[in-house]
Amino acid sequence: MSAAETIRLIAETTRACRLCGLHMGRTNAVPGEGPPTAKIMLIGEGPGLHEDRQGRPFVGPSGKFLDQLLAMAGLERHEVFIGNVIKCRPPQNRDPQPEEIQVCTENYLFRQIEAINPAVIVTLGRFSMGLFLPGERIMRIHGQPRRVNGRLIVPMLHPAAALHQPQNRPLLEADFQRLPEFLAQVEHERAARPASARPAPEPEDDQPLQQMSLF
Ligand code: URA
Repeated sequence: MSAAETIRLIAETTRACRLCGLHMGRTNAVPGEGPPTAKIMLIGEGPGLHEDRQGRPFVGPSGKFLDQLLAMAGLERHEVFIGNVIKCRPPQNRDPQPEEIQVCTENYLFRQIEAINPAVIVTLGRFSMGLFLPGERIMRIHGQPRRVNGRLIVPMLHPAAALHQPQNRPLLEADFQRLPEFLAQVEHERAARPASARPAPEPEDDQPLQQMSLF
């Protein structure tokens, strides 16, 4: 099955999902959107009020700011895949619970990642970061790319963190401005690797990248 077909099927299943209690309070599930061949995937926390109403990710105030941040990286929204850890809005925007995260990521997010196979995953906020870098602290490692299972994970603050606390805005802006550099690094490495070796995990998994300054 093509990546496009897999992504379409996952979205269809997500919209009908009843695997956890969050389906009872939703208006729309929010599967995520973007090209199935996206090189960059951004993963937020979960839908808020606006996303629940429209069934689309990051369409409220955080989304408007995210569009500005993408522009600072020379990117437009339609070039990246935007998803979330959980696909349905929790009541009163409470934190997602561990069981909700587990069932939703196993059934949807991780399958989306596998189908899209992005070169770079940007995690937005601590819940998204926690999927790949459990136990880390976002204020300590934001903007520092790490290899996890052969993929480049770039942890960043959630855009809402800058809307609530303006002192976080320059941190997010600086991290987004480095996104093209991170992508170039991975693409350079992917191109240099023999095709037969491409699916293999990187030997330096889960290590901060040491050679970024070469680019
Ligand atoms: N915040 C998120 O984490 N995701 C969205 O889709 C919107 C706001």
